[in-house]
Amino acid sequence: MATYSVPSRVREGAATPITDLDRYREAWAHAERDPNGFWLEVARERLRWRKEPTRGLDGDFDSIMDGPLSWFGDGTLNVCENCVDRHAAAHGDRVAILWEGDDPSETRTLTYRELHREVQKAANALRELGLKKGERAIIYMGMVPEAAIAMLACARIGAIHSVVFGGFSAEALRDRVRDCGAELVITQDWGLRGGKKIPLKSVVDEAVTGEPGVKKVLVYRRTGDEVGWDEDRDVWWHDAVGSASETHEAPALEAEHPLFILYTSGSTGRPKGVVHTSGGYLTYVSYTHATVFDLRPDDVYACVADVGWITGHSYIVYGPLANGATTLMFESIPTHPSPARYWDLVARHRVTIFYTAPTALRALAAQGNEHVLAHDRSSLRVLGTVGEPINPEAWEWYFGVVGEGRCNVVDTWWQTETGGIAISPIAPATPTKPGSATHPLPGILPSLRTPEGKLVRGPGQGLLCLDHPWPGQARTVWGDHERFVSTYFAHVPGVYFTGDGCRRDEDGYYWITGRVDDVLNVSGHRMGTAEFESALVAVEEVAEAAVVGYPHPVKGQGVYAYVVPQPGETIDEAKLTAACRTSIGAHARLDRVQVVPGLPKTRSGKVMRRILRKIAEGAGDELGDISTLADPSVVDKIKAGAILEG
Ligand code: WTA
Repeated sequence: MATYSVPSRVREGAATPITDLDRYREAWAHAERDPNGFWLEVARERLRWRKEPTRGLDGDFDSIMDGPLSWFGDGTLNVCENCVDRHAAAHGDRVAILWEGDDPSETRTLTYRELHREVQKAANALRELGLKKGERAIIYMGMVPEAAIAMLACARIGAIHSVVFGGFSAEALRDRVRDCGAELVITQDWGLRGGKKIPLKSVVDEAVTGEPGVKKVLVYRRTGDEVGWDEDRDVWWHDAVGSASETHEAPALEAEHPLFILYTSGSTGRPKGVVHTSGGYLTYVSYTHATVFDLRPDDVYACVADVGWITGHSYIVYGPLANGATTLMFESIPTHPSPARYWDLVARHRVTIFYTAPTALRALAAQGNEHVLAHDRSSLRVLGTVGEPINPEAWEWYFGVVGEGRCNVVDTWWQTETGGIAISPIAPATPTKPGSATHPLPGILPSLRTPEGKLVRGPGQGLLCLDHPWPGQARTVWGDHERFVSTYFAHVPGVYFTGDGCRRDEDGYYWITGRVDDVLNVSGHRMGTAEFESALVAVEEVAEAAVVGYPHPVKGQGVYAYVVPQPGETIDEAKLTAACRTSIGAHARLDRVQVVPGLPKTRSGKVMRRILRKIAEGAGDELGDISTLADPSVVDKIKAGAILEG
């Protein structure tokens, strides 16, 4: 395994803010020339280490099959201390978490001092409940400050958290509990979202009953509505945390100690538990959060994602708190109680940096500008988007209408696996083009490749790969390093394959074109076609199913299911919907269902998804050569068939 040693003299400037294009070019060149020197300097500058690292990267992509990469391998730190304690000491009265409930009149603030007290109590409570370093805790909650406190308390004691989005079904939750071998589940009685109550505790009950590994369920009381109770297993947050001691000494942990597991969909099989570790991850999210958004001490920063996804981990909790910022947590949805909710939120809290997804912008733009214009947005300075390609119209609307043409728009491309933003404008420095994620951040070396792995040079289109490791990248798949290697490093040996297609224009700007694998991106939610298909074929009347995405004006992609009935059976669409809901969750909706007599297959029995995608896109006349199909006539039958709107 190759080892990169640390230069004895660290170059100056890696931690200097990037405020113009020259400085960006300098920083990017520095990180390319000397990644260890660059990142060690950033790591030492931005974080408080118990033992400062002297090593940068150990390992490389060529030898990834031998084991995970390591960054800052001889350093130790405590992530929670970095996010809380040091800011409580330096500016304890600054608001750390600004929370707005589902009902806009309900708000809470937690200063860094208060957050410090709460995480110490929660850490003590978790230890009392028997949770130890290296053990796993599942967090299945809505957007309440206690979700962040639970994450930070796990990090503090070295327990590994796995947050599961509160829309996932009991079945999906059980799979994750089992896969990571969770000892503890942290949840709340009910969630609130868009005026609806979500039975979080009851889903947990269904998921963990009969799971002997789960020793305790810790329950935060959000609404006070009734819940089922297991006296031996269930513990109220207000009892356990309420009575816990207010001081907890944060232990020093290894830089490569796992911080969290986050399950994400791939093109095949069950979701993968993507593992992120401590020192490199925190360095990367702290650096990118400050750099991309041009963070300033008096900013009110609002990312309206959910902590159940990577955006919530990196840019609601860890990045902003590592930077001592004020981070807003939003419990509701953009259209509750009206489509003016975001702009009302911006006006009332004087939000300076706002970060959302293109799907929300498209949905809101369709409601008319008056909702935006009715609220004061003069506080806004930087507007971010993430999760899917942003179409130029939505970009222009964000820039022109929301931002009054005076804010920097940052279209940030990244993934669960990259840990943090990888290709994006840097707010004060990068000239933008609507719809382009522009340029790689320092330390990110993108390349475009043909399906055969050949390098595309200059302007052109190809598979987006990243050629050199960066500190924030996922280290492995929980319990299955081989799957990590075969998923990300087998397409093109020696580089990381993102799963996205991308175009580079004549000015060197990157334009992400979307997934090239069988991963769907529906309203910024990443879902595998395989997960839908396994839910559908489990329905008694279904013989076969194939699911593809198609362009959807608001969601980005819609879910299109082709279903072949068992001989003599008829398909009840409601049953299909219910099956997806049970197996995946409430967010797994079928937009279109088509009952078909058969699927287009090659003679060797492989489903030709390319053909199904074309038909779903409405481009059934451009199928090209279908003579390799076992039964080409099936294509005409599918094209002639009726679609059921979901
Ligand atoms: C897509 C979300 C275009 C992409 C942070 C990626 C984007 C997947 C952008 C990861 C963007 C994310 N432009 N596409 N700015 N941001 N994507 O893991 O296809 O939930 O591979 O992480 O979202 O989704 P994930």
